[in-house]
Amino acid sequence: MSKENRIHCAALRSKVMSATEAASLIQSGMNVGMSGFTGSGYPKAVPSALAKHIMDANLNGKRFKIGVWTGASTAPELDGALAMVDGIEMRLPYQSDPTCRKRINAGEMEYIDIHLSHVAQFVWFGFLGKLDVAVVEVAGILEDGRLIPSSSIGNNKTWLDQADKVILEVNSWQSAQLEGMHDIWYGTQLPPNRQPIPLVRSSDRIGEPYLRCDPEKVIAVVETHAPDRNSAFSPPDESSKRIAGHILEFLQYEVKKGRLPRELLPLQSGVGNIANAVMAGLNEGPFENLTAYTEVLQDGMLEMLKSGKLASASATAFSLSNGALAELNADLARYRERIILRPQEISNHPEVIRRLGVIAMNGMIEADIYGNVNSTHVMGSKIMNGIGGSGDFARNAYLSIFMTPSQAKGGAISCIVPMASHVDHTEHDVQVLVTEQGLADLRGLSPKQRAKAIIENCAHPNFRPALADYYKRALEFSPGKQTPHLLEEVFGWHLRALRGERM
Ligand code: COA
Repeated sequence: MSKENRIHCAALRSKVMSATEAASLIQSGMNVGMSGFTGSGYPKAVPSALAKHIMDANLNGKRFKIGVWTGASTAPELDGALAMVDGIEMRLPYQSDPTCRKRINAGEMEYIDIHLSHVAQFVWFGFLGKLDVAVVEVAGILEDGRLIPSSSIGNNKTWLDQADKVILEVNSWQSAQLEGMHDIWYGTQLPPNRQPIPLVRSSDRIGEPYLRCDPEKVIAVVETHAPDRNSAFSPPDESSKRIAGHILEFLQYEVKKGRLPRELLPLQSGVGNIANAVMAGLNEGPFENLTAYTEVLQDGMLEMLKSGKLASASATAFSLSNGALAELNADLARYRERIILRPQEISNHPEVIRRLGVIAMNGMIEADIYGNVNSTHVMGSKIMNGIGGSGDFARNAYLSIFMTPSQAKGGAISCIVPMASHVDHTEHDVQVLVTEQGLADLRGLSPKQRAKAIIENCAHPNFRPALADYYKRALEFSPGKQTPHLLEEVFGWHLRALRGERM
């Protein structure tokens, strides 16, 4: 489809301008809600033009910084470009950009790491201040001004609703066949007027395929033709394959015990290579007719849709490699029947996750011997990415599984430690821990029983004796206590790593 026929609304066509002109409408100090989620559906032109504008202001001795709110991580053209010119005062929520990460950890950028399901409602509640401008990528505009969403939905509904002004990027690179895939529910209300979300099967459609936007608020429309950040996944390594194997075996056991149906319950799979490898494992496993209620749809899930193992998938965004994207686009009309993209407030909604009985599988940085999980901070202080949706899912899932290789940095670091240096998911929200060494099923175990299971099943043999020794001495020091610790040495493991020594 050519650029011309993506904008069918005359009133909005009259607002077409260049990215530079549109960016000049954004002022320093504004909060800007950008589309974008895990490298898909982010605006491709305005943020870069704004970065240039900020650089020029800086060269003239003027400070120019904005608040950047998104769905989740974006791409070098957005987070990277704005962080490079030190143009971000405050960033929220999940990010994974190296320049952003560097600035945050250098104290040059404020970062608020919020559960992804909380962002939209925090904006309606007024907890985050005023949203001045929305910059949202869409795949097209209908005659009546409704918008065809792009390859992610994220918080776009909220940005379009709440922002004073709207800048639209119409990206003709996005397949026109995305039209009809999305499901936007306009039934959200503020407490005390909230109603149940009428979604009882992961494949239910409860809303409409278009985003609404008051044309009066639109101050600019920018045409683009640019690809998403489609990153390749590493092929599953031995460690990921073993993690996937343990999870498969566990799920089979649960079916045998009658605690899961044969087609399991809707799957949620987190970001990254391990999550992708687990999907590859499931694709080769014995389960049929699976469903997914997840946040991101990565290559592994697309493969499962292709093979027929996965009947349907609900998410808020794609996160695909170029190869997988080509596969999707070649057959989009067919995939569209089985893929639903929703706003992240719905894809990650605790009510729905609890009702559907989601099986949540997420990566982590480290876990401690009692089952507290750190998903976000290296050595307690340095942010990696953010909590993303892992907390939305973990607390409300039917089964919450966290996985990691047992060691990091060539074996210098144990991912099982006496006490997590930062806690995102408490022992109360973590039911299963998995490393390539094995799986610890923590359901129904007391803290002391959990410590035994985690050390024996999940720790690497190089660290297992030291962890067992720590635990034994902690028990001796605090006989009978509920959760024994040696407070004077508990972070000695991290301190050694910070000194560059083996943990
Ligand atoms: N201490 C220090 N560094 C560690 C570590 C530890 N215990 N464990 C892992 N790392 C490092 C790795 O060495 C690697 O570093 P590198 O980038 O320099 O190579 C990096 O952390 C990523 O680790 P990796 O094993 O490749 O894991 P991953 O790609 O599966 O990502 C998380 C793991 C935790 C970073 C990722 O899952 C995440 O951001 N999770 C939070 C958000 C989330 O769960 N979202 C999904 C919800 S739907």
